[in-house]
Amino acid sequence: MQGAKTKVAILGFGTVGSSVARILLEGPAATELQLTHVFNRDVARKRASWVAHPATENPLVWTEDVEAILSSDVDIVVELAGGLDPAGSWVRRALEAGKSVVTANKKLIAVHGIALHRLARQHGAHLFFGAAVAGGIPVIPGLQQGLAGERVQRIEGILNGTCNYILSGMEAGGEYGPMLAEAQARGYAEADPTEDVGGFDARAKLVILSRLALRANVPLDAVRCRAITRLTAIDFDYARLLGCTVRQVSRAELGAAGEVTAMVGPMLVPLRSPLAWSRGTENMVLIGGEYGGDVVFSGYGAGGHPTAVAVVSDLLAIAHGSGAVELPSKEASVSSDLHLRHSVRFVVSDRPGIVAGIASALAREGVNIDALLQKPGHAKSSLPFVVTVEPCAGSALRRALAEVEQMDCLLEPPLEMEILESD
Ligand SMILES: NC(=O)c1ccc[n+]([C@@H]2O[C@H](COP(=O)([O-])OP(=O)(O)OC[C@H]3O[C@@H](n4cnc5c(N)ncnc54)[C@H](OP(=O)(O)O)[C@@H]3O)[C@@H](O)[C@H]2O)c1
Repeated sequence: MQGAKTKVAILGFGTVGSSVARILLEGPAATELQLTHVFNRDVARKRASWVAHPATENPLVWTEDVEAILSSDVDIVVELAGGLDPAGSWVRRALEAGKSVVTANKKLIAVHGIALHRLARQHGAHLFFGAAVAGGIPVIPGLQQGLAGERVQRIEGILNGTCNYILSGMEAGGEYGPMLAEAQARGYAEADPTEDVGGFDARAKLVILSRLALRANVPLDAVRCRAITRLTAIDFDYARLLGCTVRQVSRAELGAAGEVTAMVGPMLVPLRSPLAWSRGTENMVLIGGEYGGDVVFSGYGAGGHPTAVAVVSDLLAIAHGSGAVELPSKEASVSSDLHLRHSVRFVVSDRPGIVAGIASALAREGVNIDALLQKPGHAKSSLPFVVTVEPCAGSALRRALAEVEQMDCLLEPPLEMEILESD
């Protein structure tokens, strides 16, 4: 590209922001993009930790005043502070000023993405967010470009690296508590891990993918989340007996009448499925299309450098004038009532009649038992066993389990999980 470079400002100089700065100055984009401003609170601290690169042509402006950027001649604002506010108001004001915006902020895009896109169009600006889902894996540009012509029917994703680290560690023999502690010690999990292990982080990403892939507007609160916190090594033993492992899966499917079924939670994944192959902090997204079949994206979904690559790629796309394909999305009725096979793990104090009691509660809701698995070697005073059921609505199963929970032999609430098909 000839002529003046595109001027870029970074708002939020943390893990991703500092990696973006590094790649902008050292990487292949350096000939086209010029980092001019860095904004952060208490910015002297950030400036002191930054080792200047010889490629820096002009001194960077380090500022605590966001107005200095919004009123400057910067072309693209990169929002990497995170959260809904004040990041949302900065993004709005940048777009209103006709500046394009690149952000990695999944929460902002999941909640306000549609309105922000409208604002960008009104002001002739671009809003790119390729790093907001699966960090460095190009799922969003893949959907907006390579799969724009597809009619996507299903999304199945491993969208949270923290959960995948914990669950793939449990698959290898670990227990939940120590695996979470290990993830925290390595910096993969926050001190309060609720957003990750509760499924809320993955849910925001699933809402974004549903809008782009299914062209359906799915409200965040309409998607049921089930935490991974109750899983134990026993669940992996039984999963193996079923030819499966356990992963936190974010799943959304489009029905014949345009309705969406969406849910996030631990599910049984066949060992043959690509979803089972993800290890550690890897992410994976499987897109099921009507015409082209399944497409799988995989790689490292988080971390400063992988995420920054996605941000810089968005910056280059804007600098080259290549807009994303933005087909309209529609309001959709949303339920979390996945109609699939399920497994249910019970832990009981053993006595005669337990299985008969469970079977009749399931039968009253029209749920058919498929198999009963009980591994030897457990004490009768705390006996785990698993019942698998034929495909049924999750709501019918949960009604039956609410009844089973009244049985005094149950030592803890039953743990139900969907069983995904391998094809
Ligand atoms: N890290 C990843 O792997 C990853 C992957 C995908 C997407 N993302 C997204 O990328 C964004 C940035 O993530 P990150 O990991 O880089 O976060 P981070 O390390 O916490 O960096 C955020 C930066 O923004 C600054 N900041 C926050 N609120 C501010 C405010 N009100 N005023 C001024 N400065 C403010 C923080 O300053 P202080 O240092 O003072 O707190 C910090 O320097 C988030 O939206 C995140 O969800 C991150």
